[in-house]
Amino acid sequence: MQDSSKKIYEGKAKIIYETENPDVLISYFKDDATAFNAQKRGMIVGKGEMNCRIASHLFQLLESRGIDTHYIDRLTANEMLIKAVEIVPLEVIVRNIAAGSLCKQTGLPEGLHLPQPIVEYCYKSDSLGDPLLTDDRLALLNVATPAEVATIGSLARRVNEVLTDFFAKCGIVLVDFKIEFGRDRTGNILLADEISPDSCRLWLANEPDPVLRILDKDRFRRDLGNVEGAYREVLRRVEGGA
Ligand code: TMP
Repeated sequence: MQDSSKKIYEGKAKIIYETENPDVLISYFKDDATAFNAQKRGMIVGKGEMNCRIASHLFQLLESRGIDTHYIDRLTANEMLIKAVEIVPLEVIVRNIAAGSLCKQTGLPEGLHLPQPIVEYCYKSDSLGDPLLTDDRLALLNVATPAEVATIGSLARRVNEVLTDFFAKCGIVLVDFKIEFGRDRTGNILLADEISPDSCRLWLANEPDPVLRILDKDRFRRDLGNVEGAYREVLRRVEGGA
């Protein structure tokens, strides 16, 4: 990080710095890990670099498939150059297989293949615990216009198609993931934030053991051990991948 760079935002896993160009920011990926709305805190050694490399690869893949993202370039091991956007305060979750809060809230069994992918919107607010929104609450909150919500929904489904296909070629099942979007200065919606084992559930294909197959932050959330090894395996497969 250049000494002159000014920190403009610090989240749980990343710090955003400004550059001399107001349309360009630097995203610094931290090794810090949190779960359950930061009630659990720790560190995953090397996570910042691994997630920066994984996210960079996936943003470039998505760009090559016509999905606009905030990604510009990788700057250093754990810094990414990004386009400045105003983040839409929605956590957009896409699910292919039942896991996590979907199982807790509906009783569906973990591992159930959903008949088609589902998209959920949570209100991005740590103080409120990122609550799941209904359509009417989404409209009421007005954090995005109906046209923006429609764009975000269809982009999320396209991201899912591209990533599901890519991870399958890496021998990994994309169970679910969370993404975020932002508006650039002209109002275009760009895929933003990160896509990494922090924000996805990734299971080894062809591994029936329900714990051994986990390659994502659930290893940290659930104290399953070998967290760094799992992230390293995702990085190896993504960079060597399809
Ligand atoms: P959930 O099943 O806990 O709702 O999580 C769905 C997906 O979203 C999973 O891949 C993990 C990711 N996620 C985040 O990236 N950040 C969060 O704060 C939460 C709760 C989930």
